[in-house]
Amino acid sequence: MSVPWKLACVRCDRTYEGMATRYRCDCGGTLDVIHEHTSVPTLAEFDQRRASNDPLNRSGVWRFRELVLPLASEFIVTRGEGNTTLYDHPGPAKYAGVDRFRLKHEGENPTASFKDRGMTAAVSAAKQLGMRAVACASTGNTSASMASYAAFAGMDAYVFIPEGKIAYGKLSQALAYGGKTIQIRGDFDRAMELVQQVCDSEGIYLVNSVNPFRIEGQKAIGLELLQDCGWQVPDWIALPGGNLGNNTALAKGLIEAFELGLIDKLPRLAVIQAAGANPLYTAWSQGSDELVPVKAKTIATAIQIGNPVSFRKSLRGIARLDGVVAQVTDQEILDAKAHVDASGIGAEPASCATVAGVKKLVAAGVIPADANICGVLTGHLLKDPDVVVNYHRSELQGFDSTYANPPVVTDATLQAVLAVVRAQ
Ligand code: F0G
Repeated sequence: MSVPWKLACVRCDRTYEGMATRYRCDCGGTLDVIHEHTSVPTLAEFDQRRASNDPLNRSGVWRFRELVLPLASEFIVTRGEGNTTLYDHPGPAKYAGVDRFRLKHEGENPTASFKDRGMTAAVSAAKQLGMRAVACASTGNTSASMASYAAFAGMDAYVFIPEGKIAYGKLSQALAYGGKTIQIRGDFDRAMELVQQVCDSEGIYLVNSVNPFRIEGQKAIGLELLQDCGWQVPDWIALPGGNLGNNTALAKGLIEAFELGLIDKLPRLAVIQAAGANPLYTAWSQGSDELVPVKAKTIATAIQIGNPVSFRKSLRGIARLDGVVAQVTDQEILDAKAHVDASGIGAEPASCATVAGVKKLVAAGVIPADANICGVLTGHLLKDPDVVVNYHRSELQGFDSTYANPPVVTDATLQAVLAVVRAQ
């Protein structure tokens, strides 16, 4: 099938036919989608599409289909992903020590994380390729998203998750959407190795971000963010990094938009890792492009990844966007989360690494306090209710619940309740 894109190896530049069930080059390198970009709408046309009632135009991914992946429309599996809010609230800005800090909440996607943007593209490609089953390894959000989109498309879904290491909200989604859920007695990185082997031998379509089409859908996060900003490019965009697909995709989308002349400058990028899962930070701060895997451990289970598959691709984008990589401790993540939550916005722990990281980079003088800064919150507060409740009850082992809002237990009498109310 002839399509207006090719797959190219990030390591040796070898190219392959665009519509192929292939995730890696024969040399082992990951693959990029290289577009021909035969027709590109104007910014005004993208804005018109956003206001339309057509499901493809309303989707915050397929609205940008010429830039994302021009699949035939009959194969597109969409749940109206995207259209997430860019919050402009003083709470997180004050906490981070900046004048203004807008936060795009990707937890407002159909399965409550940013993963839906990449997943709509990967599952649509699976459909166009005639695949009947999809699989992924996941710290939780990818599996929730995949299980939903697969069910929606009538495909089987195989979820590989590290046992006991994913948040309950995410596990419940994978089960509820009917994904065959395989809990591995090992970590995410081991689950990732296994799922690649199983997909190869069983003819199942792999939809982790090693899948080049996942990255293409994920690019829409940056395009929609720019659209929210009236196509005015911010100075900085900050986001968390785990398997490193999201920052790879964000950078790719922005660079392509820039090269097509849709935007007149590129923002700088800040990728924030948890200190206990920091292979990108370690490499970047040493000026190295070698990945040294780590045994990952962080309370932000979504980014508890020690051997990220998109490491090499992500370095390219960071270099091109004059990016920086920072690391934050779990305590810093929890403190930032308490502020994001208490502002009324709320997000899961990994998302709040964004805010903790910006605070740190501002304090270090890397990001000026008056810069135009946008951040990405990647997942919904309810994805990980255990962390929230344990934090506010001061029951998180090894952490200070500095900003706890504990529940108050009283006798069931008016007098007792009034005593609590009046004590506030
Ligand atoms: N934030 C959340 C809430 C995530 O779920 C993830 C990744 C990230 C940030 C990091 O994004 O991997 O593209 O660098 N979660 C994956 C999963 C790995 O399986 O759900 P990344």
